[in-house]
Amino acid sequence: MNGSVPGGPGGEGIPSCAPGQQERRELLHVDCASHVYPDGTRGIHELCFRVYEGEIVALCGPNGAGKSTLIEHLNGLLQPSSGRVTVLGKETGGKGGAELWRFVGVVFQRSDDQLFAPTVLDDVMFGPLNLGLPPDQATRRARDALAAVGAPDLEAKMPAYLSGGQKRLVAIAGILAMDPLIIAFDEPTSDLDPVHGAVIEGIIRDLRDRRGKSVVLATHDLDLASRIADRVCLVKGGSLIADGSPREIFYNQDLLKAAGLLEPAPVRFFRDLCREYGIETTDRPLTLEEISRSPVFSRYGEGSGRKKLE
Ligand SMILES: Nc1ncnc2c1ncn2[C@@H]1O[C@H](COP(=O)(O)OP(=O)(O)OP(=O)(O)O)[C@@H](O)[C@H]1O
Ligand SMILES: [Mg+2]
Repeated sequence: MNGSVPGGPGGEGIPSCAPGQQERRELLHVDCASHVYPDGTRGIHELCFRVYEGEIVALCGPNGAGKSTLIEHLNGLLQPSSGRVTVLGKETGGKGGAELWRFVGVVFQRSDDQLFAPTVLDDVMFGPLNLGLPPDQATRRARDALAAVGAPDLEAKMPAYLSGGQKRLVAIAGILAMDPLIIAFDEPTSDLDPVHGAVIEGIIRDLRDRRGKSVVLATHDLDLASRIADRVCLVKGGSLIADGSPREIFYNQDLLKAAGLLEPAPVRFFRDLCREYGIETTDRPLTLEEISRSPVFSRYGEGSGRKKLE
């Protein structure tokens, strides 16, 4: 965690790549990349971004900020108009770029962009088959991935006839089945019901905690980002305007305002409560669980017979 907030509130972004973290292995580097779409729209502008081994990094920013454009550069789907993107030291547009999809999996914001096979099982098997696995192993991987996302009953369905949330689950399963080193999820929970949303949140945690993967998570759900991200990058106007820990970023009201974002609900609740009761604290809880453990409340609970939550 570098904990820096380079652009700061109202910042102009990072004009050139600041040095990365020495202590962690860098897997992916977006080096001052810009992308101009054919109609002249600027998708990202001199954007610098790194992904380290075994972390969940959240990309947060308002509509049209450039999050999806950035994500589509991570697996070489888009190439930068200027600057460069490297994965494990190899440039995505270079000779080593062709095999990039083995290392970086992207779950697109629009699931329809990802699903194309006649059945769900064919779709989820496509990646493992392309990796060279024999059909029986590819089938096993696909079924395991569908079970993991809570959609084992969909395997015989036609992707086109799935609901929006079901398509999302199948798209996520398709990437999980390939088992890449880095997985970028673009708004993975935006159309999921709360139960499936919690399943996907669990999968993302598991990818980091038990399987050592790196996850990039573009999301408007700042509550989700505050619960699971190790690092939060704020994107605005095609540039990264801040990069820091969830506590640094989500307790910086000026920065969030400059980015066009609202603080996560638990942060707002804790702030309002402290303001209401005139409590001054440096504590920065991010979840309801952390709020319940805050020294602020243990102090107020003393002598009241209130049990401390463990
Ligand atoms: N294919 C395209 N052609 C032209 N402009 C595009 C294209 N795709 C995206 N843009 C523009 O690029 C900018 C960044 O879009 P992008 O989709 O990356 O934003 P985003 O942060 O993902 O937004 P959202 O939160 O709505 O998903 C926007 O101004 C958008 O209109
Ligand atoms: Mg997007």
